[in-house]
Formats: sequence, C-alpha cells, structure tokens
Amino acid sequence: MSALPGAPNLARAGAVLQLDGQPLAALAQAFGTPLFVYSQAAMLAAVGAYQRALQGRRHLVCYAMKANSSLAVLQTFARAGCGFDIVSGGELARVLAAGGDPARVVFSGVGKRPAEMRQAMQAGVRCFNVESTAELDTLNAVALAMDRRAPVSLRVNPDVDAGTHPYISTGLKGNKFGIAHAQAVAAYRHAASLPGLQVVGIDCHIGSQITQVAPYLDALDRLLDLVEQVEAAGIPIHHVDVGGGLGITYSDESPPAADVLVAQLLQRLDARGHGHRELLFEPGRSLVGNAGVLLTEVLVLKPGADDGSGGKNFCIVDAAMNDMVRPAMYEAWMQIEACVLRDAVPATWDVVGPVCESGDWLGRERVLAVQPGDMLAILSAGAYGMTMSSNYNTRPRAAEVMLVDGQARLIRQREAVASLFAGELLLDAPEPGA
Ligand code: LLP
Repeated sequence: MSALPGAPNLARAGAVLQLDGQPLAALAQAFGTPLFVYSQAAMLAAVGAYQRALQGRRHLVCYAMKANSSLAVLQTFARAGCGFDIVSGGELARVLAAGGDPARVVFSGVGKRPAEMRQAMQAGVRCFNVESTAELDTLNAVALAMDRRAPVSLRVNPDVDAGTHPYISTGLKGNKFGIAHAQAVAAYRHAASLPGLQVVGIDCHIGSQITQVAPYLDALDRLLDLVEQVEAAGIPIHHVDVGGGLGITYSDESPPAADVLVAQLLQRLDARGHGHRELLFEPGRSLVGNAGVLLTEVLVLKPGADDGSGGKNFCIVDAAMNDMVRPAMYEAWMQIEACVLRDAVPATWDVVGPVCESGDWLGRERVLAVQPGDMLAILSAGAYGMTMSSNYNTRPRAAEVMLVDGQARLIRQREAVASLFAGELLLDAPEPGA
C-alpha cells in the first residue's frame, strides 16, 4: 500500500502534507476545522480521463452530483463540458444556480414527484431515467398536461453483481432500482404507446465503488440485448447510458483507470455493431473522491488503561459522523494522515468524533503520533462527504475550500448555528404568513 492512497495531487514535503502544493495544516489554521479542501486540478484530471477516451465518439459525461453538489464543484464540471445526473428537483436547482446546461441533465431516481417532473420539463432536461411502468404513466400525464412530450430512457436492472458493498450495489434482482430485465421490452412497448412520451435511450447503474471492468461489460451486454429486441419491435433507441460506479483507491483497491474502462466498453459496443450510438456515463465518486480531504483538529487524547485490560486509545477530533458518515454507515475505511508528521513514537488510536454515538468513528486502530491541537487529514473525502453531512447534535456543517490555480478559494462558509434553527417555530410564535 502506498503511503498516500489514491490522491494524485497529495504529497509530503518533508513532514508537511500538501494538496496541490499547499500545506494543509496552514489551510486548517486559516479557515478553521472541520474543513473540506478540494483540488480543482484533480477533478479536472479525473473528468479529462473519461473525456479523452471518448473523443471522436458521440458521448456525454453526466456528473452524478449526489457525490458532491457544492456550486463551485458543479461550476467546475459545467465549464469542463459535463452534463449532470440529478435525482431531485433540489439538485436541478443547484445545476441551474451553477450555470449548468439543463439540456445536458439526466433525471434519475426511483421516486420522482409530479412537481419535480414538471420542474424538469420546464427546465428542458435531456431525459428522464424512468424506473417503473407506474412512473411512465405519471410522467405521461404530466407531459400531456403541459402539452409536451417527455424524453425517456428506461433504467433497466441488468441483474449483474457489481461485487461491492450491499448498501451500494444496485443492479441485482433484489434491489429496489430499475425495471427487471425480463419486463423491459414490455415496458418499452408501453412507453412507446403513450402520447406524452418519447423514447430516447436505455440506462442502468449497477452499483458504486466498483473495482472491476467485467461487471460493466456484463451490464452493457445485457443492455445491448434489450436494445436489439426493442428496436426489432420498432422502437428506436438513441443513447446507451451505462451509469456510474467506478471505484477509487481508499486503501489498496486498484480500480481500472477511467480511460481503460471506457476503451473496453467502446470495444464491446463496436464488436456488437452498436458503435454509432451515443454513450452516456454518470460518474460521481471517480470524479471527486480522490480530489478532496477533510481536515480536522485533535481535541482530546484518551489513552486506554495501561494495565493489559485491552482498553482502547481514543483520539477525539472535531470532525464527526455528521461531517463524514461513510465509516459509520458502511464501515468504510478512509486513510487518516497527520498534516504534519511528528518526530515521536506513534500509538494506535481509534479516531472518533464528539457526537454522542458509539458509531461515531472515522478510523479504527490507526497508527499515529498525535497531540491535541494537531491537524489530521481524512483522505479521499471529496465524494459523499459534504453531501451526506447532517446537523446531528446541532453541529454546523463544515466549510469548504477549493484550490484553484494555486489559490485557496472559500466555496462554502461554515454554517452559522443560528441558521440551523432559523426555520423553526416556537409554540407561541405566529404562523408563517399570518
Ligand atoms: N447514477 C446513479 C443512478 C446512481 O444511483 C449513482 C450513485 C451514480 C450514478 C454515481 O455513482 P458513483 O460513480 O458515485 O459510484 N453514499 C455511498 C455511495 C452511494 C451511491 C449511490 N448512487 C458511498 O459513500 O459509498
């Protein structure tokens, strides 16, 4: 395992951990902690790998913004020519606020509300990734009421095993996602019969943190089988969207590089005579995960009893499960590094937050030389960190900084405590609007 897994722009200059050449401890001092810091260059490099491999082909990379939906991150990808994969009206509003092009938006999600469908039609999204026949009917009614036709792609559940954590595996029969492969042709016939819909594509998404090419090839084969059947039934399909899911390196995983994955998928498309089709991707984690770190200050050290009783050493930091829930939720392993290495004998620590839950941990049994006041960096924190954060324990959400051309730019202010309950009403308060 390399000392700094998966973080291309992260390096040590002597004892000092740097992102894009900027010492992280200094950023933590300047902006306070907990603090997310992202390298814009790393994000652009990640999307560039997809785009280069797709050059000369009709394609669209739709960044799955659930991974990190901060406006400056969206702006970065919009300027790089990306579309967006959204799953709510709220995410659509963010795309528009960041200057993204709605005509490059695909709207995924297993439960869209009619109001969200209307909002997306109004904005002019590129297509709806529809997950059930009931949703086809609802969308048809919404579109007809607007005197429009809604562009649809059917999300098919290809029933392939992505070989990942059960909570983030989505392409198996037992998952709530997508239309069963066996029912897909009938669903396409139904879609084609509805006057408010226009069939434009097919899609799937088999899971997240996938570290192999094979499940993608299996899923693509299953999709192409359907494309052939559906087109034989007289319903043309324009694009094939293979979803997101490419993994990153948190410790010793070695996922394929994006360009290797893309090349193999293109080869399979060509081999099966589908090379003319537009290919869509919905990557989230692989565009932002390794581009970010979460910085946190050590508050208290609580060494276990030194009597052989097996007591644990706890290193209590100021970031918690509300800032980064992945360890608590998936038992995810994330590398933790001292921002400045100490010349001291390390000990083994459980790195935990101040939240009142035993599940509030960031890393277990980590070998670190630390003192209160030291800054630690949780690596590969650019994806599913800030977007999954909460205000549990009335903790304000962290601030975010993006490194742009060598400059540290604040892209999100630390939340103010007063704003956390600004929308709440005391029992004797007048009703809003009264
Ligand atoms: N498209 C669809 C329809 C999705 O549901 C997802 C992620 C993506 C694309 C992007 O997948 P990615 O490229 O990021 O793997 N919170 C979990 C991951 C949940 C992924 C949900 N769907 C985690 O922190 O590991």
